[in-house]
Amino acid sequence: METSVEKIKRVSLQGYLDVDLDPTLDLFEEIENLKKEKNAIILAHYYQDADIQDVADYIGDSLGLAQQAEKTQAEIILFAGVHFMAETAKILNPGKKVLLPDLRAGCSLSDSCPPEKFSAFKDQHPDHVVISYINCSAEIKAMSDIICTSSNAAHVVNSVPRDKKIIFAPDKNLGLYVMEQTGRDMVLWDGSCMVHEIFSLQKIQKLKERHPAAEFIAHPECETAVLEIADFIGSTTGLLKHTQNSPATEFIVATEAGILHQMAKASPKKTFIPAPPNNSCACNDCPHMKLNTLEKVYICLKYEMPELLMEEATRKKALIPIQRMLEISKAHGL
Ligand code: 13P
Ligand code: SF4
Repeated sequence: METSVEKIKRVSLQGYLDVDLDPTLDLFEEIENLKKEKNAIILAHYYQDADIQDVADYIGDSLGLAQQAEKTQAEIILFAGVHFMAETAKILNPGKKVLLPDLRAGCSLSDSCPPEKFSAFKDQHPDHVVISYINCSAEIKAMSDIICTSSNAAHVVNSVPRDKKIIFAPDKNLGLYVMEQTGRDMVLWDGSCMVHEIFSLQKIQKLKERHPAAEFIAHPECETAVLEIADFIGSTTGLLKHTQNSPATEFIVATEAGILHQMAKASPKKTFIPAPPNNSCACNDCPHMKLNTLEKVYICLKYEMPELLMEEATRKKALIPIQRMLEISKAHGL
């Protein structure tokens, strides 16, 4: 029998724990039992597999997930999302045990902004207020003045006095969109999301022609040319709410395909078409998000590993700009 020390060694090598599971186990039921037994909650992002969304206590966008993580009374937070999201939960609620089913679940946007390079970039732009999109590491957050998400970015930018210069990192596409929304000029870090940059403008235009009644809705991480032809732009929660409130019955959706599960659940009579990517496999999946599986969620909760741990000095520094973001969001009813 494998000891817990051996399991820990394996997690640090692989990033996750795999144990042989009885194939007759009802994982949905087992996970529900473990949640009660351990006083644990599962927070899941919309880009997770449908099965994982179905065992979650809360499903949301990055802002909603951070707000839930901050206020939960549960002892354990199992974060079904990517590393920066679990890190944010730990920063906000350090007394809780934060679990991430697969520690390798990263983010191309976060990876595009290494701390040493960002520090040099900041030095080249002294006297700038640093606004960082939440899709970045704790080290980048610790170097920032305010964090934002796709649902509050314009409010965060508008909170900075107009005579102040701004660095916006790491997503240049969101940065460009917010510049247009706010009329503010900003120095942009050159990062992007591999999933939202893959959509093909040409294929979307053809799809729109074939579905003239469909609304085209897009996440602001998409490229400017794609956003220019969108009928509605919003965070994942914003997109989901829009599909519920709009009179349209057909939608072409330019964001990670996992969200279609909640859209179809909320509006079963409406049709949702994933926007086509620029490649031959018709796949808009985020390879990082999809590293989490229902099996890994079960094992992670059962053995309470992998656990997300963080250096306290970085956590404390990263907390300040996140709290500023939460205050601005609250002031705007978000
Ligand atoms: P939101 O869910 O906050 O809109 O972010 C989308 C995303 O890409 C998360 O990685
Ligand atoms: Fe990062 Fe893009 Fe995946 Fe979101 S969808 S986790 S931004 S790579």
